[in-house]
Amino acid sequence: MLLRVAGGLDDGEERPMTEALEGKVAIVTGAARGIGAAIAAALAQSGAAVAVADLDGDTARVVADKLDGRAIGVTLNVCDTASVLAAVDAVQAQLGPVDILVNNAGVDVIGPFVDSDEATWLRLVDVNLLGTIRCSRAVLDGMLERGSGRIINIASDAGRVGSSGEVVYSATKGGVIAFAKALARETASAGITVNSVCPGPTNTALLDQVADVSQRLYDSLARAVPMKRIGQPSDIAPAVAFLASPAAGYITGQTLSVSGGLTMT
Ligand SMILES: NC(=O)c1ccc[n+]([C@@H]2O[C@H](COP(=O)([O-])OP(=O)(O)OC[C@H]3O[C@@H](n4cnc5c(N)ncnc54)[C@H](O)[C@@H]3O)[C@@H](O)[C@H]2O)c1
Repeated sequence: MLLRVAGGLDDGEERPMTEALEGKVAIVTGAARGIGAAIAAALAQSGAAVAVADLDGDTARVVADKLDGRAIGVTLNVCDTASVLAAVDAVQAQLGPVDILVNNAGVDVIGPFVDSDEATWLRLVDVNLLGTIRCSRAVLDGMLERGSGRIINIASDAGRVGSSGEVVYSATKGGVIAFAKALARETASAGITVNSVCPGPTNTALLDQVADVSQRLYDSLARAVPMKRIGQPSDIAPAVAFLASPAAGYITGQTLSVSGGLTMT
């Protein structure tokens, strides 16, 4: 990574981002593909040992094998507390105590709210909001004991400004942002930071659903972005690596849109 960041107040030295997370252990949920895979790669490039955690454990292991440095793939279902606890135990046994959690696993279902059913609402809430809550709870005891930790939630601009066709999804992402702010207040004095990154429309399988519903809608999304293009997973990952780095140690409870200027709130 080309970015250089200040090393800290104590030495005033500049250090390359490639060393910023040396000795740290990170879990990225939903990292077998898309934005999560790019985040796992960025954290590994910054020196962290990375657990690529996903419902699709086989693909997670393939992704982990291709990362720089120490990395493992772990099967994880964020909807199942036993699975979350087992995954965190496995990561701690193989890589060490978890310093960084990236709550990235998420699902979306596109369509008018009035046509959606309760099973869909429950699934969206279970993965996007409760999944974030379960994984955060699972790593917090260790972070509190050690007096340090970073939790970074991948929310969405939909959670900041609302998105038609994604009404319950928007609600879950708004919930994720509020969860991060409240948890940040509770844990700041214990040396833990909690922040949210909000991608705009980003080129992944999740966004392909929009094109499946309407190619015109997909094209209009790109036109609505001031930078006139859909984001790439590699646009999102550096913001997460920054928030995980020592340079972001005084930033907590914040919500950062990475969306080519789509939302400016
Ligand atoms: N792509 C976009 O336009 C966009 C925009 C805003 C926010 N986001 C958010 O970014 C995050 C990543 O999205 P993406 O676009 O890379 O999606 P994606 O569908 O490409 O990848 C999501 C990953 O999450 C995993 N996953 C799903 N359910 C899971 C579960 N229960 N437990 C563990 N893993 C599970 C999937 O197996 C998959 O590997 C999501 O939280 C999404 O809401 C995406």
